[in-house]
Amino acid sequence: MKIFLDSANTQKIKEAAAMGLCDGITTNPTIILKEGRDHKEVIKEISALILGPISVEGIGETADEMVKDAVEFSKWGKNIVAKVPMTKEGLKAVRILEAKGIPTNVTLVFSPAQALLAAKAGASYISPFVGRLDDISQNGMALIAGILTILKNYGFKSQVIVASVRSPMHVVEAAKAGAHIATVPPDVFDKLFSHPLTDKGIKSFIGDYKKANSALGEVGAKK
Ligand code: G3P
Repeated sequence: MKIFLDSANTQKIKEAAAMGLCDGITTNPTIILKEGRDHKEVIKEISALILGPISVEGIGETADEMVKDAVEFSKWGKNIVAKVPMTKEGLKAVRILEAKGIPTNVTLVFSPAQALLAAKAGASYISPFVGRLDDISQNGMALIAGILTILKNYGFKSQVIVASVRSPMHVVEAAKAGAHIATVPPDVFDKLFSHPLTDKGIKSFIGDYKKANSALGEVGAKK
């Protein structure tokens, strides 16, 4: 499974990229706002940092507006993906943009029916939001399994980006379900590394190494 960072924080992106763990980036206006930086400037900087796809979202409501935004975004880097909302206008834009060679990511997907339509429209990526479904007491991860079955049944080329990820378990469940991609906020990404037994084990090995060395030192001193 590919791991994307759901972030526009260039420090966090550099850190993940240095470990070979950043296969792409997803952003939205809320994520850009968090960084307090100019949209174009930050996307250009990210594009210079990673080779994978970078999803960029505008605020157009009609297909024409979305296409216009996406054509502009595609000039900001070599690997830009146009994020469009799951609406009738959004899917019209998907068709036009994919035909122009600009990949699309249909966002704010909350049902299998929406995913089926996005796949039929030709979206490169489909982003179901699992955390926001969990928030309203629905099973976000069950949606992923359903969408993956639909895509597989008909051999659609669209890749599923598990989005609105809130915990390491969402990432693990996405991988178990066979999702193509999980897009992970930096705080969840950091949590993926940790296990208390790893920390305990490192501490005890370091302690034993020091003890062994000091014991050898004492033997050497007595000789
Ligand atoms: O990329 C969009 C998505 O991941 C948003 O997540 O936490 O705002 O529901 P969240």
